[in-house]
Amino acid sequence: MKSTVSTLLLFPFFHSLASAIPFTSQESSLSPRQSSCENTATSRSCWGSYSIDTDWYSVTPDTGVTREYWLSVENSTLAPDGYERVVFTFNGTIPGPAIIADWGDNLIIHVTNNLEHNGTSIHWHGMRQLNNVEYDGVPGVTQCPIAPGESMTYKFQATQYGSTWYHSHFIQQYGDGLLGPLIINGPATADYDKDLGLLFLSDWSHTPACQLWDTARLGAPPTLETGLINGTNTWDCSGSTDAACIGSGKKFETVFEAGKKYRLRIINTAIEGHFQFSIDGHNLTVISNDLVPIVPYETESILVSIAQRYDVLVEANAVADNYWLRAGWVSACSTNSNPANMTGIVRYDNTSTADPTSTGITVGSNCGDEPLSSLVPYLAMNVGNYTEVTQEALSFTFGNYFTWTINSSSLYLNWSDPTTLKIYDNETIFPTDYNLVPIDQADANDEWAIYVIQDNSGIGLSHPIHLHGHDFWIIGQATGVFDLSTSALNLINPPRRDVATLPGNGYLAIAFKKDNPGSWLLHCHIAWHASQGLAMQFVESESEIAATLSDTVAFKDTCAAWDAYTPTELFLQDDSGI
Ligand code: C2O
Repeated sequence: MKSTVSTLLLFPFFHSLASAIPFTSQESSLSPRQSSCENTATSRSCWGSYSIDTDWYSVTPDTGVTREYWLSVENSTLAPDGYERVVFTFNGTIPGPAIIADWGDNLIIHVTNNLEHNGTSIHWHGMRQLNNVEYDGVPGVTQCPIAPGESMTYKFQATQYGSTWYHSHFIQQYGDGLLGPLIINGPATADYDKDLGLLFLSDWSHTPACQLWDTARLGAPPTLETGLINGTNTWDCSGSTDAACIGSGKKFETVFEAGKKYRLRIINTAIEGHFQFSIDGHNLTVISNDLVPIVPYETESILVSIAQRYDVLVEANAVADNYWLRAGWVSACSTNSNPANMTGIVRYDNTSTADPTSTGITVGSNCGDEPLSSLVPYLAMNVGNYTEVTQEALSFTFGNYFTWTINSSSLYLNWSDPTTLKIYDNETIFPTDYNLVPIDQADANDEWAIYVIQDNSGIGLSHPIHLHGHDFWIIGQATGVFDLSTSALNLINPPRRDVATLPGNGYLAIAFKKDNPGSWLLHCHIAWHASQGLAMQFVESESEIAATLSDTVAFKDTCAAWDAYTPTELFLQDDSGI
């Protein structure tokens, strides 16, 4: 990885908004504060002329900084937990290199597909991509896959700040290691001394996920062997005659200095799994959910669905000792062979090598989210006017394979024919299984889209639902059947984020502003379920989409290279495409 123009990592530096903001056509009207306030350990709400009070949906600092990164998608052999297997990596590591920028910076990320037999496509999870759908990274929706040997350059501005990840959106590649941290520095709702970065909580298998898919698609998901914390864990190879079991695994470890406050950015990057994260002997102060700062609250543990993020502060105020940090696999939601081994270690003495003897919380059986009442957005925003409520039903069908359906249709995309390309080419007929829902703003009383997804499958599993291109407002989330005339919808500063759980046999009602033209995927983030078609796409303000495409030459080149590659393809598409 190379990074240029990065002298400003620690202290943000702002230029006047008068100069053009590259990559977006956003216009901001901003009255900068009189005095500039520096972001320090005791003034985390400050951010130069901006602050935690700035409405980032309409205002973006123009830092004038461009950060450039190079990612190589590779086939490697690694032993993250001491068991050697084939993995996919960015630049040779799991997780991949951290992409770090300041709020308002422009990112240019060159992705080269060095895999032999797989396409790829990289998504910047939670990035709003305002007027910039072409760089959202969804194969069959916003681009053709990047063919082996080819490169694609993604360009976007960090209009939000906080913690997220980038990951492959192609087959089950992220479950085999194709994921990495994406951190946008900005203000926060509480003070802390030190940022410890992203903490990836993943499940992990000794058989590649793309092989397990052959079983998973039959319906019953396979039980994975173990889990990783930031790409590492131990596995007991004593007495094993398996040559791949080399026993080199290590626990994730971090060291606390007594009295200091740390910021940890917790993320669930599992293929299938729910966590109740905790650190023995320490409370957590939660300061943001996904890319939205919240009013801080304190808790012993947090429930984290796949792809959700919680930024937490942890004060080193316990008796100096070693403590277990626990991912907290919730076995009630899905199975794993080693739920209790998904641990790391917090030490107060960096010379200690002893295992902790601490005890902690008992993991419960809740497959849902943190209580909605805890997740209060610091920047309060209500849902505005709307005229229509779209209601769709989730179910399944079973033919040769198990597939999930939304309104009776399982998503199935043609990688060579992405939605945005069809729109650019003025096609008017879209395949039924592209699962499109058009949303246009009919008049001034119709600024918001309301979408309710009802689980009618009878299966009772919870689904972490993610929307691209927007934060959404969670206006309803309950078990049972949604009824437009009787079910309560909370429109007053409800929780706002980019992943929320649809409770098993229940419903999730979301609202978002129709302010971002594009084809935006909504899907379950359980990797098996996404592959099994649990997804739909909003085509938002269709007539304005073509004008947002800034480099149609590159777009078409990526597709031409993919089309040239497909006749020699070894593995044909055998999932939904996402
Ligand atoms: Cu984390 Cu559709 O992605």
